[in-house]
Amino acid sequence: MLSFFKINGKVPMHGEIKVQGSKNAVLPMMAASVLNKGITVIKNVPMILDVFCMIHILEDLGCKVTLENEIVVIDSSVITNTEISEKWVGQMRSSIMLLGPLLSRCNEAKTYFPGGCSIGERPIDLHLKALEQLGASFKEEGNQIIGRTKKLKGSTICFAFPSVGATENAIMAAVYAEGTTIIQNGAREPEIVQLCLFLNEMGANISGIGSSTIVIEGVTKLRDVQFTNCGDRIVAATLLSAAAICGGDVLVEGVEKEDLLYCLDALESVGCEIKSEKDKTYLLRRYPLKSINRLVTSPYPGFPTDCQSQMMAVLSLANGVSTIEETIFEGRFNTANELKKMGADIIIDEEKNTATILGVKRLRGTTVKALDLRGGAALVLAGLGAGGVTCVTDCHNILRGDTHFAEDIRSLGMDIVLCEEERIK
Ligand code: UD1
Repeated sequence: MLSFFKINGKVPMHGEIKVQGSKNAVLPMMAASVLNKGITVIKNVPMILDVFCMIHILEDLGCKVTLENEIVVIDSSVITNTEISEKWVGQMRSSIMLLGPLLSRCNEAKTYFPGGCSIGERPIDLHLKALEQLGASFKEEGNQIIGRTKKLKGSTICFAFPSVGATENAIMAAVYAEGTTIIQNGAREPEIVQLCLFLNEMGANISGIGSSTIVIEGVTKLRDVQFTNCGDRIVAATLLSAAAICGGDVLVEGVEKEDLLYCLDALESVGCEIKSEKDKTYLLRRYPLKSINRLVTSPYPGFPTDCQSQMMAVLSLANGVSTIEETIFEGRFNTANELKKMGADIIIDEEKNTATILGVKRLRGTTVKALDLRGGAALVLAGLGAGGVTCVTDCHNILRGDTHFAEDIRSLGMDIVLCEEERIK
């Protein structure tokens, strides 16, 4: 059912909140469960559509899966199928994560080209090249990709760009590969650290965790594992940005402060006061928002592309001119046009991939469209800071990654409800 968020803005935010488990950490861990010829238990699993989709895929492959009270139990003793159905690939790009584990365990994997999406082209060449370097070969039949190997073998993989997904795929594929795999210029996002810790708990032999050079010694056997997923750092940063836009204060719990570093720096630059300790971050915004001269998205530990749209919403109301340069996904500025409908003054330079944001005194509520998960969250934030009523349509794009988004924000004193689409027509 199509639905929209209705927001009455201009209410200061107050309260405490614990964030859900990380989407981007749990999806690769669930994919990696295929490596284990036994039982995998993951706790603190967010109850979101992407997780449900991953469960469907695992069931199609022959796994038995239950999800209850944010705990997923995956029995992958028997894999009966190595094809990921096109239907799931269309729904969730992260299904590509299964390529590495399937090739590693079954010597075969079949999937489909994921195609473009609303934040840009998102090719998979780095995934395929890394797996080829480990001994897989791929052929294309129509839109299908079929990967096969006699047996994966350790190798040195040097990424031209530190792709998060391709690094994860290479790590998972290398777990059973014969000999040593060295990944150079790999991504080092906290979610990759989680995946490596999880795999080591399962009996893998991975070192260099958290660095850009990751070494995997192939093993022949894994064991059952129980692991607790980390909190979602992007959701935490989104809630902190919401408090920045509304004014007031919020205590966000469940994400280590180190994982939020660049986001907290940016929020301090716009004038927020922040205190953080271990997995608790307190943000207070008392004074008018200030602009940021230049904010550049980059791979971890840089400012995350997944927080860029939310920061654009914040900067729309800042005093002065800010510039954002997006270096990861070319389509991530699409949300600017929606923000402009609310009165934001933003100029996009498509050649330089920059957005110049001239802060305005106020945004006004209107109907805008959530084009992707983070861009949609940014529009909700803008609605919270705007005068009047804002309707954010297509909010399934937000709910895909954060089912409780409206409830969480409402629990912090905000006026936001989830409504059915028909009612605004
Ligand atoms: C992951 C995150 C996503 C986040 C992104 C960047 C998950 C489930 N998703 O996505 O939320 O925004 O990291 O932090 O964890 N690229 C190629 N060829 C490839 C793969 C990627 O050219 O084979 C390019 C992409 O088009 C993009 C850049 O590399 O421009 C970064 O993509 P990547 O790091 O792979 O992101 P994802 O793993 O898809």
